[in-house]
Amino acid sequence: MYHSRISGLGYYLPKKVLTNQDLEKMVDTSDEWIKQRTGIESRHIAGENELPSDMALKSSLQALKKSNLTPEDLDFILVSTVYPDQLMPNTACTLQKKLGISHIPALDISAACSGFVYALSIANQYIQTGTYKNILIVGTETLHHITNYQDRTTCVLFGDGAGTAVVSQNKDPEKGCIYHQELKAYGEMDSALFIPAPGAKYASKTQSIPNQYRKNNTLQNLSLTLEKNNEMTKKPDPRESKKQPNCDTSEKQDTYIHMEGQTVFKKAVKIMCSALEKTLKDTGGSLDQIDWLVPHQANERILKQFCKLTGFPEEKVIFDIKDTGNISSASIPLSMARAIEQGKIKRGQDILMIAMGGGMTSGSVFLKY
Ligand code: UT7
Repeated sequence: MYHSRISGLGYYLPKKVLTNQDLEKMVDTSDEWIKQRTGIESRHIAGENELPSDMALKSSLQALKKSNLTPEDLDFILVSTVYPDQLMPNTACTLQKKLGISHIPALDISAACSGFVYALSIANQYIQTGTYKNILIVGTETLHHITNYQDRTTCVLFGDGAGTAVVSQNKDPEKGCIYHQELKAYGEMDSALFIPAPGAKYASKTQSIPNQYRKNNTLQNLSLTLEKNNEMTKKPDPRESKKQPNCDTSEKQDTYIHMEGQTVFKKAVKIMCSALEKTLKDTGGSLDQIDWLVPHQANERILKQFCKLTGFPEEKVIFDIKDTGNISSASIPLSMARAIEQGKIKRGQDILMIAMGGGMTSGSVFLKY
């Protein structure tokens, strides 16, 4: 039996900083409101030509160095991103190219803020079965591209950055292992946090088919059959009653993050509480056995509420949102890498990661670092 060990972590934050004071000039908000309601003071914004794969490269080279490995040692690349470099090829392939390697599989994961935890869980399966020895898992986000800087309810939250972990095969669980993992999704909450476009749902059905062929009977019949089938299986979409999305994907509005803040907030607290409860139940452990909680950094108040409800000590929580904002799937690897750098997290300690995000998706991993 093989075990998964995080052999090294790295992170990258772009140079440009967007402060609460900057946002005060853009929307009707205040530094005080943002700090009080979220814990955020500033966030980093990627440069004009800085792509998710560029940031992923920087954090990955750092993680490889910390692992005493080179890109040639890797067997698999998993990249989580909400907004990839482009739709095809995936960002993992681009990262592979930038790392100067070839042949090994490279896959993007779409699970929003839970993406890193999903990637870690997938990596663990390949390590445990002995299929792969070293897997690169990355969360890299340029959320500023999909943030509406006229919407004060979302623009104060998000930032850019990347975080990487190398997951390596290991025979001695004392030197690092994953004790427990659980992934979940709540597709019924698809209207709580979403980005309408681009995507087939809001693209014109026959957009790429030349006009003369649109009149073709076969296509018309096909389109009618599809419409009929859709009508029969269609469930009411809660979004449709609230907002009729514009079918034109060039409409900037549809390319932005839409969020029902309070709904997501309440669900996030519930997810965190039940993830802790399930981890302790399945492992037969107690709160004392967890040295650190490394949660997705969406809002400081979510974490404080979780501590209040579960009795989890705040001193054992990695709070790391003040100068980054919510950086989606990059948040967990980045905050863990920084906590190691600051001497908080040490080898041999037991770490619980919990993430939640659009989908809604969620995931937890309890591991020995
Ligand atoms: O990573 C994915 C997961 N994402 C999350 O977990 C985010 C979860 N949600 C949240 O973090 C919070 O719900 C927000 C930070 C988004 C909002 O905080 P809230 O305490 O839930 O505020 P609210 O939505 O209840 O709004 C309270 C008031 C409203 O004004 P009225 O209606 O009471 O007059 C809002 O319009 O605060 C107003 N408001 C703002 N005021 C100043 C909302 N955003 C702002 C703002 N500045 N930026």
